[in-house]
Amino acid sequence: MMRLLILGGTTEASLLAQHVATRTDLTPLLSLAGRTRHPATPPIPFRMGGFGGVDGLIRFLVENAIDLVVDATHPFAAQMTRHAAMACSALNLPLAIFTRPEWIPEEGDRWTRVGDMQAAVAALGPDPRRVFLTIGGLQLAAFAAAPWHHYVIRAIEPPQAAAGLPHHDVILARGPYRLADEVSLMRDASIDSLVTKNSGGTPTGAKLHAARMLGIEVVMIDRPPIATGRRFDTLEAVTGWIDDHRATP
Ligand SMILES: NC(=O)c1ccc[n+]([C@@H]2O[C@H](COP(=O)([O-])OP(=O)(O)OC[C@H]3O[C@@H](n4cnc5c(N)ncnc54)[C@H](OP(=O)(O)O)[C@@H]3O)[C@@H](O)[C@H]2O)c1
Repeated sequence: MMRLLILGGTTEASLLAQHVATRTDLTPLLSLAGRTRHPATPPIPFRMGGFGGVDGLIRFLVENAIDLVVDATHPFAAQMTRHAAMACSALNLPLAIFTRPEWIPEEGDRWTRVGDMQAAVAALGPDPRRVFLTIGGLQLAAFAAAPWHHYVIRAIEPPQAAAGLPHHDVILARGPYRLADEVSLMRDASIDSLVTKNSGGTPTGAKLHAARMLGIEVVMIDRPPIATGRRFDTLEAVTGWIDDHRATP
């Protein structure tokens, strides 16, 4: 039976895990980085923690006799994606990337597109602003370089780096978010600017719609470039790819 490794930590990986849990023709294994302290229990066997770089991943793939890999990590998890590409290429294993399509600006949007977190901080400018940060907890430290803004930080778990920001509020929440709630949140907090990564997808997309409705400026951090490879953005397409490989091992 084909052994499938899913690199996860995303809605896409959960969707795929739910799908393969119902199949008897695959032996799936989900890999999580272990960043979330209390992840929902996956419906398929899983392991947690880094592999130990490319060499560690190659070892893992061999020891676990993996036949094919779906990289369903977050579009900003560039290192894991790079490592997966290198390890699969070294072992000649089929690899697919399953990722959500990125957001594209629509009529009425006020986006400033930037390449990284430092550029996002700079884009907020020298005048104090009320900034809604929806970038997760790990990269908050960059905003300590602009302590004159007031930050409203939304994260899944209490972000330690928030302590470095003199003026901030923390909202602990996990998507999906409703448009009406996003509008109320941004209006009640008198938000001037929204900072977000271009993660894409619908569960967290309502904030962009809300910003458009309220005329709020968006600082949009573009995705890091990824190595070329087979990319799919729907469950149907990626399961079709898995089926093709099952038919011709
Ligand atoms: N970056 C984001 O904005 C974001 C948002 C939501 C969810 N996530 C999820 O959070 C996890 C970590 O993201 P990141 O941006 O820190 O990744 P990253 O920078 O690309 O990866 C850093 C290291 O974490 C380990 N790792 C990452 N994903 C892994 C996985 N699925 N299974 C096992 N090890 C993994 C690997 O360690 P070794 O080198 O030791 O193998 C990797 O080299 C990913 O699973 C990603 O899908 C990330």
